[in-house]
Amino acid sequence: MTTKTVRTVQPAKDWKPESWTDKPAAQQVRYPDSAALSDSLLQLSKLPPLVTSWEVNALKQDLAEAAAGHRFLLQGGDCAETFAACEPGIISNRLKVLLQMSLVLVHGLKVPVVRVGRFAGQYAKPRSSDDETRDGVTLPSYRGDLVNDIDFTESSRVPDPRRLLKAHARSAMTMNFVRGLIDGGFADLHHPEYWDLSWADQSPQAAQYQQLVGSVQEAIRFMEILGNQRVGALSRVDFYTSHEALHLPYEQAQTRQVPRQWGWYNLSTHLPWIGKRTAELDGAHVEYFRGLRNPIGIKVGPEMTPDWLNGLLDTLNPDDEPGRITLIHRLGYDKIEQYLPALIDTVQQSGKTVLWCCDPMHGNTETTRFGHKTRQFDNIRKEVELSFDIHGDHESRLGGIHLELTGENVTECTGGARKLTDEDLKQAYLTTVDPRLNHEQALELAMLIVAKRQSVMPIELSS
Ligand code: PEP
Ligand code: CO
Repeated sequence: MTTKTVRTVQPAKDWKPESWTDKPAAQQVRYPDSAALSDSLLQLSKLPPLVTSWEVNALKQDLAEAAAGHRFLLQGGDCAETFAACEPGIISNRLKVLLQMSLVLVHGLKVPVVRVGRFAGQYAKPRSSDDETRDGVTLPSYRGDLVNDIDFTESSRVPDPRRLLKAHARSAMTMNFVRGLIDGGFADLHHPEYWDLSWADQSPQAAQYQQLVGSVQEAIRFMEILGNQRVGALSRVDFYTSHEALHLPYEQAQTRQVPRQWGWYNLSTHLPWIGKRTAELDGAHVEYFRGLRNPIGIKVGPEMTPDWLNGLLDTLNPDDEPGRITLIHRLGYDKIEQYLPALIDTVQQSGKTVLWCCDPMHGNTETTRFGHKTRQFDNIRKEVELSFDIHGDHESRLGGIHLELTGENVTECTGGARKLTDEDLKQAYLTTVDPRLNHEQALELAMLIVAKRQSVMPIELSS
C-alpha cells in the first residue's frame, strides 16, 4: 500500500490582487486615456468569469498526475489569437488538430492526455521593443489585439482600453463554442471522423493517422462488446484553456474569490503562464502569480540561472503543492544540451516536483532571406528529441509539449513531410506574431513524439 503525503498549502502572505502594483512591471501598456482604462477594468471586474474554480482545481490535479508520469500534457494553439480569427471554422479546426494529436499521443504513449489550448484569451504579446519603425515612421509596437491593432497607422497603434472588454467577450465566445462542441459530442471517440480536416486528405500522414483511428475504433468496439454496453466516458473529453498572463490590470480584474474556497483564482483561464520576459523574481508578474490558486506555467529560457529558478520555486510554490508548477523550457535545439541539465539538477536538488514541458518553438525562431519569421520543422523535432534524451539521462521526466499551431492550411514553418521551403512561405503566411505549425506538421510532430518516447523508454501499459 502506498502512503499519500497530504500537503498543507498556505495562503500567500501579504498578498492582494493589486500588490503587484508596488513592483516593477515589465511589458506593460501606457494608455493615453487612464479614465477610460479604469472604466474598462471596472466593467471587467463585474463580468462573469470565463472558467470555474473547480475546473481549475481539476486541471491542477491532472497536471500533478502528469508530473508523476501518469498523464501527458498537450498545450497548443496560436502564438497570438486575433479578434478577426474568432470564427467558428478557425476555432473548430484548431480543436480538431488538438484532438487528432491527442489521439495519436494517447494511443502511442498509453497514458491519458491533458489537453490545454492556447486560446480563449491569448490576446496579449510581449515585444522586444516598445516601438516599431518603418520607412522613417515610428509608432508603438503591436502588443496583441488586447491592446492595439496590427495596422501600421497612428490611430491603430494607440492602446485602446475598450479592447479589454472585447477580448473578454471574444474569449467567452470561444469558450462557449468549444464547450458546446465538446459537450455536443464533437470529441466522441466513437466518431473521430468528425475531426477530419477537409483539406488534409492528401496529407503525407493521412494514411498512418487513418490506420490509427481504425485501430482505436476497433478497440472501442471490442471493449463495448465485452462489456455489453456503450462506454459513455469516451464521448467527451476535458479541454482546458491557457494564456500568457501578461497584461496585469486585465488579469487582476478577473482575479476572484469564490464561495467555499479560500484564496484567489484567476478565472479568465485555467492555466495562466509567466512569459520568459516577465519572470524577474522581484517583478510584478511573479508577485501577481504568487497569490493565485491556479496551476501556473513558467517559460524558461537560456538566461534562467539555478538561483533564479530556485527563487521562483520558493516564491511560487513554497509548499510544493502537486500540480502547481509547469516548467516550460524553450531553449533552442542548439542550446538545450548546454542549459537543460543544470535546470534539471536545480529542480532535483530543491526536492520539489514540477511538470517539465518542452516548448520547441520559441528557441528556434529565425528569419528567412525573404523576411518571413519562421521555424524549421527539423529544429523543432531536434529540440523535442533532445528534451526526451536529456530528461531520460538525468532521471527526470518530460511530461508535456507546448506548441504554436493552427488547424488552417498555413505555410509559416518550413520543412515537415511536405518539405516546405523558404520560398513556399509566401503562399499562406497569416500569423500576426510567431510562425505556427500547420495541421500536417502538428500531426507529424505528434507521431514523432510517440516514436521518440518509445525509443527512450519502452512503453508498458500501467495497471
Ligand atoms: C509565447 O509563448 O508566445 C512567448 C512569447 O513565449 P516566451 O515567453 O517563451 O518567449
Ligand atoms: Co509565440
